[in-house]
Amino acid sequence: MTALVTQKHRSTPARNSLRSMGLLLPMTWNQRVTLYYRTYSHFLHILAGDTAMLNFGQEQLCDETVAKFPPYGRWLDVGCGIGGPACYFGSRRPDVGITGINITDHQLVQAASRAATLGLESRVMFQHGDACNMPFDGTAHFDALYAIESAFHYPDKGAFVREAFRVLKAGGSFACADLVSREGRPIAWRDRFVNKVFFGWFGAFKTLGPSEWASLLESAGFEEVEIVDVTDSIFRPGLAGALERIEQERDELLRHYTPFSIAVVRWCYRWLLTDLERRPIQYVVMRARKPGA
Ligand SMILES: C[S@@+](CC[C@H](N)C(=O)[O-])C[C@H]1O[C@@H](n2cnc3c(N)ncnc32)[C@H](O)[C@@H]1O
Repeated sequence: MTALVTQKHRSTPARNSLRSMGLLLPMTWNQRVTLYYRTYSHFLHILAGDTAMLNFGQEQLCDETVAKFPPYGRWLDVGCGIGGPACYFGSRRPDVGITGINITDHQLVQAASRAATLGLESRVMFQHGDACNMPFDGTAHFDALYAIESAFHYPDKGAFVREAFRVLKAGGSFACADLVSREGRPIAWRDRFVNKVFFGWFGAFKTLGPSEWASLLESAGFEEVEIVDVTDSIFRPGLAGALERIEQERDELLRHYTPFSIAVVRWCYRWLLTDLERRPIQYVVMRARKPGA
C-alpha cells in the first residue's frame, strides 16, 4: 500500500497519459476501476477540495442520501472513496459508527489517514471490500447502509442489492445515490454513443434505469422502496461547480494532466450540462428498508 501512496507524488502528465493507455488493456472490471482511480486521483482530489468527497453533490448529496437513517448505530459506506462522506457523517453524528469498504487500496489508506487526522479513527474505519461480495460473514451487521456515486461501477448490481439486504439488520435502512439510465423518453443515437464512450471510460458498468433498480430492490426483499430524482436539484449545480473548479484549478491540473485530457473532461461535463434533460442519464437517490423490527 505504501507504494501506492508514494505513487501519488510521481504523477506527471506523461505518467498519467501512460496509465490511461493501460485502461485499454484486458483486465478484470475491478482492476480497471482501480486503475481509473489511480490515473485520475489528482483530478478528483482537486475537484473535491477540502471535502474529500468524490461525488458531484458533496454535502447536499450526502445529507439527502441519509435523510431517513437513524441517527445512531452502525452504518456501512459502500464504495467509500477517500473517506469524505464517512468522515463528514462521523464528525456530525457522535452516536454513529461507520465502516467504509472499497476495492481501491490506495484510497483506503487516504480515508484512514483522514479519519485519524480528524480524531475519528475509533468510530470511522475502512477496510478492503467489494460491494458485490461484501467481506462480512452471515447476516445482520449494520443498522444502515449507503453507497454514494459508486454503484454505477458495479458489474453485478443485483449481487450488490442482495449483499446489502444480507448485511443489514431487520428494519435496517438502505440508500444509494447514483447515476442511472434515463427512462421515459427516446434518446438520440449520438447522445447514446457519447454516453457509452464517456461513461465507459470512467468505469460505468451498464447503468440501469430507476424501474430496474426498484425491481432489484423489491426482488431482494426490500420494502418502502422510493426513488427520488435529484438531477436538477443536486446534480446540475454539482456539475456546474465541477466545471468552475476545472477553470479555477487549471494550473494545478496541468501539473498532472495534458491539456488534451483536461479539455476532454471539460467537453464531456459541458455536453452533459447543456440539455441535461435530453441526456441518457439522470441522478437519483434510492431508499428502501429491510422488513422487520
Ligand atoms: C465516484 S467514487 C465515490 C466515492 C465516495 N462514495 C464519495 O462520494 O466520495 C466511487 C467509489 O466506488 C469505489 N468502487 C467501485 N467499484 C466498487 C466495488 N465493486 N466495491 C466497492 N467499492 C467500489 C471506487 O473505488 C470509488 O472509491
